[in-house]
This record gives sequence, structure tokens and C-alpha cells, in this order.
Amino acid sequence: MAFPPAFLDELAARNPIEEVVGQYVNLKRSGSNLFGLCPFHGEKTASFSVAPDKGIYYCFGCHKGGSVINFEMEIEGLSYPDAVRALAQRAGMEVPEDEQYQSRYRQQERLWALSKEAARFFVSQLYAPAGAEGLAYAQKRGLTKGTLTRFGIGFAPNSWNSLCDAMLAKGYTEEELKDAGLVSVSQKNGRIYDRFRNRLMFPIIDVRGNVIGFGGRVMDDSTPKYLNSPETIIFNKRKNLFALNISKKSKLGYLILVEGYMDAIALHQYGFDCAVASLGTSLTEEHAVLLSRYTEQVVLIYDGDDAGQNATKRAIPMLEKAGLQVKVLQMRDAKDPDEYLRKFGADKFRLLLEESSNRMEYQLRAIQKKYDLTVDEERIRFVSEAADFISSLPGAVQREIYGTRAAEAAGISGDAMKLEVSKAFKRRMAREKRKQEHIDLAPAAARQPKSRTIHYENVKSAMAEENVIALCLRDPGLMEQTRDLKPESFSSPLLGRVYGQLQRQYESGKDPSLAGLTDFTGEEMAHIAGILQRSTEPVSEQALKDSIRVIRQASQFKNAGSDEDLLSLQKKLRESKGIKA
Ligand code: GTP
Ligand code: MN
Repeated sequence: MAFPPAFLDELAARNPIEEVVGQYVNLKRSGSNLFGLCPFHGEKTASFSVAPDKGIYYCFGCHKGGSVINFEMEIEGLSYPDAVRALAQRAGMEVPEDEQYQSRYRQQERLWALSKEAARFFVSQLYAPAGAEGLAYAQKRGLTKGTLTRFGIGFAPNSWNSLCDAMLAKGYTEEELKDAGLVSVSQKNGRIYDRFRNRLMFPIIDVRGNVIGFGGRVMDDSTPKYLNSPETIIFNKRKNLFALNISKKSKLGYLILVEGYMDAIALHQYGFDCAVASLGTSLTEEHAVLLSRYTEQVVLIYDGDDAGQNATKRAIPMLEKAGLQVKVLQMRDAKDPDEYLRKFGADKFRLLLEESSNRMEYQLRAIQKKYDLTVDEERIRFVSEAADFISSLPGAVQREIYGTRAAEAAGISGDAMKLEVSKAFKRRMAREKRKQEHIDLAPAAARQPKSRTIHYENVKSAMAEENVIALCLRDPGLMEQTRDLKPESFSSPLLGRVYGQLQRQYESGKDPSLAGLTDFTGEEMAHIAGILQRSTEPVSEQALKDSIRVIRQASQFKNAGSDEDLLSLQKKLRESKGIKA
């Protein structure tokens, strides 16, 4: 998004990062930094730092970081331009007209409006003669009139063009219908036709109340059972959850996460108005962070089959990483919550919910289930695996409680179990130590970025490149000394890009700053903020010169192709060190 650099400069200046962050995090000063509990991952000791002078935040725990704009994006779940708008509003600034942004925003608004119209159309069809079969199916599934209205459930008629025609008549274009994912294009004649036909339609609504997509269910056993909207500029499955728009207002104090639309809807109908479902994809980190914005506790209820149990195992650490307390409800006597509620009712379900266990109980039980504890050999293996798990628990009280429980299950004394746990603990420490030694012995590997998508080809040069960037950001005056250093000399394309933009900022008469960087991903920005925040050595021209020399040498070696080049390079190197050839 091309906001003018001057505007971004002022935006950062008028939104001091410590003030913006301070609205969400309790910050305490320590030296030139402020520290607090990271809002992006659960923690008890403050590893989240804000550097007002550098205009950045950085978490030493989860490695999130960036400028005030990145913070606004991350904490409010906004896109880059929306975050800029929010900050501009906060500071009472006017956002400069940006044609590209304006037009994209207008396009989004059109698609939201179109999707809302489509949802209205589907609802009208459910109660029209064309929807008789749909209404009967909804009733067969036990959906009440109130539930149908509450969720805006509708029906896509068994026709190739009824939605198209209705929307075209309202002034939407074929292009917009395609962009909203409501139609498909015929391979034969290139004409558009309704994507959803003869299906019960569930609108998917984001937390701001916009209709962003649909899920449609067949009414028989044909496939696919559910057809969802494709990804569009307004619909991202990884970032949205079904029914969160309703559940976020629940007074129950927790959120229930289920697999299916019908499960979420049934839970709401039976009084559990805090159920959300993922959109036919597995849970993502974005989902976990989204949930953590509305609650501190999540009850996971996945289907009782193997797939559901594996999904549970995957989801637990993701949710915990987002700082959520996780409970797991083990489905039994029915395949999913919808079926359970219809069979046994809300009171029985409430009992299940009450006995839903925390994730430690759940995991211990999952281990227990793998072994037949009437067979001695299996009991021994159970004790060993349980001890390993218990030794990984962070609190002594937790280890005591679950140790006792495991001992009881295995029919051994508490003391014997304690011994096993402490042995397992020692094994674990030894493993950790070996891992650490391995890292110490491989400094280059250890200095690779934590992020999976950023990799340094030449670690030595990259360290020097990081240093140049950090020094220039900390003392913009130093940019005078780097005029001859070209971004092309950087071994890391990412760092080269950062450096190039800093140079441009400087040349246009501004102090280079992180907030002025554009077109970097969140992960890249976090990495850059990390570089800046770790840079604590005194700023000096000498430090800068040393780093520039390392970068030059590396780039000369890289560019040296033939023997001849190497010879002249050697000569140059000698000269640079003051040795005469
Ligand atoms: P009902 O049979 O209507 O009760 O649905 P369910 O929720 O019990 O279905 P299931 O457990 O099979 O699926 C759970 C979720 O996975 C659904 O809500 C959909 O989001 C998704 N899903 C299921 N079948 C399909 C499919 O064929 N295609 C796609 N894209 N998603 C599906
Ligand atoms: Mn079901």
C-alpha cells in the first residue's frame, strides 16, 4: 500500500509506540526500554519490550515485533491499510487519498454488500415454494424457526441461474459475482452459473458483522457434503470462525470450539451460545489468536473418531501458545455435539461439559488408553511414558497431582512413581543439555533467524548486514557513511531490501525509521524489529566501518567467478589490509 513516506513518518511521530501499546499492556520502565507481559502469547514473566526511542516493540519470547503500525495490525487483527487508518484516526490525522487503496476498499464494500444481498436471497428462497425441500430438511435436522432466523440460514434453489439473475437485476456485475465466489465459470462457453445449487445455506459472518462467505449442505448423501465459498478478497478461512459474531457476545465466559457448522448451531439452540466452528479447515494459529481476543478459556469438542482426536492433539499447543486455557470434552455415546444434544438434551450435555477435563488430565488419559494395565509389561511401559509426560509439566503441584493419579492407575506406590518422574526429568535435562551443546558448537546455525521463512545464506555477512541496519536506525546520521554501500552487496535479499528503503528514506530528507518501511510481511517486520532490539553495543563509526568491510568482502567473493577474478580480488583484499602485493 503506497502511503507517502512523509505521512507515515508523521503517523509514527504522533502515535508514540509506548502510548499505543500502553493501551493494551501494563508497561514498566527498565533502562531505555519498557517491559510488560506479551499480549501475543501467554507468559508470566515480562519478555515483551518496547523501545520508545527506536519506535519498536519486540517480544524476546515469541519473537513478534515491529513498528507501531505492526502492533496495531497484530493486536486488532487489521490489515496494513486499516491499521494505518486506525492510527491516523487516533491522532486526528487525515489519511491521504490513495487511489489503489480506495479502490480496493470500495471493491471490498461492494462484495460485502453483494454477499449480504445473496444471503437475503437465500433466506427468501427457503420460505418460497422452490425451497420447500430445504425447509423440510432444516426441520428434520431439528432447527427451530428462531435458530434459522438467528443464523440467517437459507436455501439455494436447484437452478443454474436463480442467484445470478437476482443479483444482476440488483445491479451487481458478473465480475463482482465471480469475485465474491458466488458463481463458477463454464469451461465450455465461459458463461457464469450459480456455484451453490440445491443446498441448505449457512452464511459465514465475520466479527464485524459482514457476510463474507457461505457453507452449503446437500440434503442427501451426495458429495461434497458441504460446499464452501472459495477464498476471496473478503473470505479467508484461516482467519475467520463460524458463529464468532454471535458467540463473542456470550456471557458464559468461555468459547466452545467444534468441527461442524451444525454442531455450533445445535449448541446455540440448546443454550450454549458460545460455540464456534472452523470453516472446514483445521485450526490455524490465526484462529487461536482470534479466539484469545474474546476469551481466556476454550473448550475443545472434536468428534470422537481418530481424526477428531488427532485434531485435538494438534489444537492444544496452538491454543495454549495464544495464551488460552484449554479444556477438552471427550465425546461419547454420540459422534458429535449435534447428535448428542438431540439424543440426550442440554442437561446431560451440561454434565459432560462440567466433567470436561483440563488438557493435562486429557493427555494423561490419552496415554493410559494406549496400554492394557492388566498386563505387567504394558503397565511398565505406561509408567515410563506417563513419567515422561509428568516430568514435562512446569509446576511441582501439577507433577504431584498427576503423578499420584498415574500411580493409582498403574497400581504402584506414589513414591515409586516419584522416582520414575525424577528419572524422566533427568533424562529430559540431559537431552536439553545435549541440544544446547549442539547449538553452541554450531554458532552459524544458532544465529539463523528463528523464523522458518527467513534464512541466511551467509551468516557472517548477514550478521554484519544486521549490524549496519541497526546502527543506521539507531543513529541516522551514520547513513552519511554508508553512501557507497549498495543494497546489492547484501547477501540477504531481505536485509538488502530493508537497507535500500532506509537509504531512500534518508535521501528524501527523513530520518530512517522502521515505521517508514513498506511491503514487508508481519514475520519480516518482526525479524527486523528483533535485530534492532538486540542491538545494544555502543553506536560508533568504527563499528559501522567494520561491518561494511565484512559485507564488501563477502560480496566480492560471491561475485568472483573466474580464476582471474580471484587473483584480482586477492590483490584488492591485500590492499584493503594495507599489504603491498
Ligand atoms: P452434518 O452431517 O451436517 O451433521 O455435518 P457434520 O458437521 O457432522 O459434518 P462433518 O463432521 O462431516 O464435518 C465437519 C465440518 O467439516 C463441516 O461443518 C464442514 O465445515 C466440513 N466438511 C464436511 N464435509 C465437507 C466436504 O465435503 N467439503 C468441505 N469443503 N468441507 C466439509
Ligand atoms: Mn453432524
